[in-house]
Amino acid sequence: MRHLIDIMDFSVEELQELIDTANDIIAHPEFYADRCRGKKLATLFFEPSTRTRLSFEAAMYELGGNVIGFSEAQSSSAAKGESVADTAKVISCYADIIAMRHPKEGAPLVASLNTSIPVINAGDGGHKHPTQTLADLLTIYREKGGFENLTVGFCGDLKFGRTVHSLIDALSRYEGLKVVLISPDELKLPSYVKKDVLAAHGIPYKQTTDLEGAMPQLDILYMTRVQRERFFNEEDYLRLKDSYILTPEKLQNARADLSILHPLPRVNEISVAIDGDPRACYFKQVLYGKYMRMALILKLLKEAGRL
Ligand code: NCD
Repeated sequence: MRHLIDIMDFSVEELQELIDTANDIIAHPEFYADRCRGKKLATLFFEPSTRTRLSFEAAMYELGGNVIGFSEAQSSSAAKGESVADTAKVISCYADIIAMRHPKEGAPLVASLNTSIPVINAGDGGHKHPTQTLADLLTIYREKGGFENLTVGFCGDLKFGRTVHSLIDALSRYEGLKVVLISPDELKLPSYVKKDVLAAHGIPYKQTTDLEGAMPQLDILYMTRVQRERFFNEEDYLRLKDSYILTPEKLQNARADLSILHPLPRVNEISVAIDGDPRACYFKQVLYGKYMRMALILKLLKEAGRL
């Protein structure tokens, strides 16, 4: 049974297949409108989400399928003490595929080991978020035409930002990648990502606190929110939350062909004055996320023999 727990579960060729399918869906949505007729996606969201959950739901509806599920742990049997393994076993009697978000790292993996249907990790704690990476990859592909020789700046909460960890994993397999890590000292990229991914692939990277200094070399700027819910105390959050705010002035030295990405939700790390700049890609990125989730649902259901 194939699942998507970590973006590295898919080869570079498989990621390209998903990108090609998503591009085909964008060009010919009518060909896909009935592909999942009679199939059910279960969205098991133990942690709040607007975009990711609704993106999965919209994706399944646009494929002609149905959706069941819950959007907070309090309205599920987890509130009665049920284990993730048992919930997954039960849901596999009702649905064809599961998308799960959970505050605990590894919960979707546990679910995948206890079901007979594909499980998609829709975000596990401060760990990984592979379907956001699918959205990011389609955005980069459509903006840049490919993934080779890119200099990518990651800015903000690189410690708890699971979207950053998954995107670095994915990009590490393409030639010529250079990475600039821009964060306050307290929110640096975890050393396991630096060691096991960046260093292991021989990827040149630089750590800095200076966003404007890094700006001129960047092809992509990936901004992130400071992840309030993962802090142990409110004081640290309040001290760090406004570390980086992207304003038009800070873009003065940026390249004309820079692409600005953000997984959203934005708090205030990108000024709304940037939204009209042609380099702002974050709302397109949301739309692309839906198409990549459609491509993903099709792939996993086909491989499970359910389509
Ligand atoms: C991200 C997440 O949940 O990790 N959001 C998303 O899924 N688009 C980023 C965030 O919450 O800051």
